[in-house]
Amino acid sequence: MQPLASDLVPLSEQQMWRQAAAQIHWTRAPTQLLDSSNPPFYRWFADGITNACYNAVDLHVEQGRGEQTAIIYDSPVTATKQLISYQQLLEQVSRFAGLLRQQGVEQGDRVLIYMPMIPEAAVAMLACARIGAIHSVVFGGFASHELAVRIDDATPKVVVAASCGIEPNRIVAYQPLLDQAIELAEHQPSCCIVLSRPQHPAQLGPRDLDWQQAVAAAPLTDCLPLPANHPLYILYTSGTTGQPKGVVRDTAGSIVALKWSMSNIYNVQPGDVYWAASDVGWVVGHSYIVYGPMFNGNTTVIYEGKPVGTPDAGAFWRVIEEYQVKVLFTAPTAFRAIRKEDPQAELMHHYDLSSLQALFLAGERCDPDTLNWAMAMLERPVIDHWWQTETGWSICANCLGREQLPIVAGSPARAVPGYNVQVVDDSGEPVSAGTIGALVVKNPLPPGTFTTLWQAPERYQSAYFDKFPGFYETGDAGYIDANGYVFVMARTDDVINVAGHRLSTGAIEEVLAGHPAVAECAVIGIACPMKGQLPMGLLVLNAGVTDSEQQVVSEAIAKVRNEIGPVAAFKLCAVVRRLPKTRSGKILRATMRSIADGKAWKMPATIDDPLILDEITQVLATLGYPQPSTAV
Ligand code: COA
Ligand code: AMP
Repeated sequence: MQPLASDLVPLSEQQMWRQAAAQIHWTRAPTQLLDSSNPPFYRWFADGITNACYNAVDLHVEQGRGEQTAIIYDSPVTATKQLISYQQLLEQVSRFAGLLRQQGVEQGDRVLIYMPMIPEAAVAMLACARIGAIHSVVFGGFASHELAVRIDDATPKVVVAASCGIEPNRIVAYQPLLDQAIELAEHQPSCCIVLSRPQHPAQLGPRDLDWQQAVAAAPLTDCLPLPANHPLYILYTSGTTGQPKGVVRDTAGSIVALKWSMSNIYNVQPGDVYWAASDVGWVVGHSYIVYGPMFNGNTTVIYEGKPVGTPDAGAFWRVIEEYQVKVLFTAPTAFRAIRKEDPQAELMHHYDLSSLQALFLAGERCDPDTLNWAMAMLERPVIDHWWQTETGWSICANCLGREQLPIVAGSPARAVPGYNVQVVDDSGEPVSAGTIGALVVKNPLPPGTFTTLWQAPERYQSAYFDKFPGFYETGDAGYIDANGYVFVMARTDDVINVAGHRLSTGAIEEVLAGHPAVAECAVIGIACPMKGQLPMGLLVLNAGVTDSEQQVVSEAIAKVRNEIGPVAAFKLCAVVRRLPKTRSGKILRATMRSIADGKAWKMPATIDDPLILDEITQVLATLGYPQPSTAV
């Protein structure tokens, strides 16, 4: 591959990516490492030809690993356990790809997947990759309106769904949600392939196909060689408005970077059991339930359950013992939930965890208390690592497969090779060690990160690359200490993180503002000892509203649940007379957040009516905030 200028990518990293690229299967190997002709639209391995499904499945069968388990499906909520070998997976994926083809799906067409944590979700994703269809998985905790927004943006030819998902406290019927979403959407998919689950069998309409029947009649279909930068998938994530951002990831970058990360960051080898306890609807699920482990020939675990309550706080330990899990990856909130139920981790002693090498945490800031507790209980390295839907894999991590660095609680350690992380002030000037500023990454981002936003290249440029020319703006604020350890402290926008789920307060505000009684509203993310953050809504009602405040609040809560979904966990809401604002009309969200979190705050000099903060303080107190203690 042709060399690049070393000021663009250091020579050591060029060498690293060349070597990593040599580890994957190419139909035609690239001659070019990076096409940098159109920044910030950098293209890695631009003239290569490959296929993600081939690298995830076929290759292992060809290399003699067909009998190895590819997927362990463990579902305490349905009392089901199933092992699927790479050979069996190949057959299932090839047939499902054939079915998609029969439904007219061609290279570049979109397929939307709305499924719970079942192996068929991975089969559908890999089948898309096999024929060059671009999948877009939507998390099951999103309701119809959110689904409709994604249908209209991705314009899928086919939707693949399950009849239901299973939450510990209820069965979530997906089909009515999907039907309603399709009714709400302007774009109409030509067909829905529905997997009927016995817990709530499918009710098929004229547009629907039964997964089992249709797949039985479908032909086996081979992998289609694809250009390196062909989109592998679109994954929607929260931005600052109700219009989510469709993060696009390409084919070759994903294969090279994710495979590299499995051995270099997580330190697992082909054949090892790797478990990301997340959901296929999130980036963690894409990268580390499906693609990463499979590119690396690992055995992945698809766990349809929770860390607690299915049936108890020993669930994770059972799975580790039963399948000899070597690495567990989850969000800190899962460990906070376990700790709350079982503070001394007594259930852990009922299981043999000797297979476990390390625990990785990401998805939200990991508070030192949780990290220290997990490390004390597990007596193994607990690795906090920082990444985002946009990057697809770690920006900062303690790379266990390279050199284990000392663990410093509160920090995801140092930048991973491939990322040049810096901290700048508002004008883009570098700040000194230990000073908080915006966390940015020097362009180009490494392979496997996002290549654009779906149908919105201008938004890609303006939202991420315009503010600090030459850098990717992560949207996180933090600092780097004198040892190069990065500390990620907070978002710089109105994205909040609820139980490791990324939500936009702006999107919740848009829903609340749509209530006929609401004149104005503000949503803030307040600290929650279990979920990290929770959204709280404050409503100002229109003059002349005759409904009681309580009724409007109940309707507002129901509206967010119906339109965004239960995942928003929107339960805290109150009516206020006015919102605190600056004289120029900016709502003082940060001040309200500080009051709710019980932090010291100063009366903003520019506030238009200082008395309003007294009222806000009283209203927050009626909701129980600030809470007496944030410690678990
Ligand atoms: N389909 C439908 N509804 C869903 C859902 C899904 N896939 N996932 C969650 N929900 C619902 C839940 O049932 C809950 O509904 P409720 O208000 O009726 O109780 C609501 O969405 C909020 O869910 P969640 O925030 O997950 O809270 P929880 O109390 O159900 O569980 C944890 C809390 C900590 C146990 C859970 O969030 C967890 O395991 N998180 C860590 C792992 C993870 O998923 N990380 C994400 C990225 S790494
Ligand atoms: P998501 O795109 O859903 O993965 O969310 C990404 C955001 O979660 C980041 O921008 C951070 O705000 C936060 N985040 C993820 N991992 C970490 C971490 N290890 N430490 C601090 N914040 C994190």
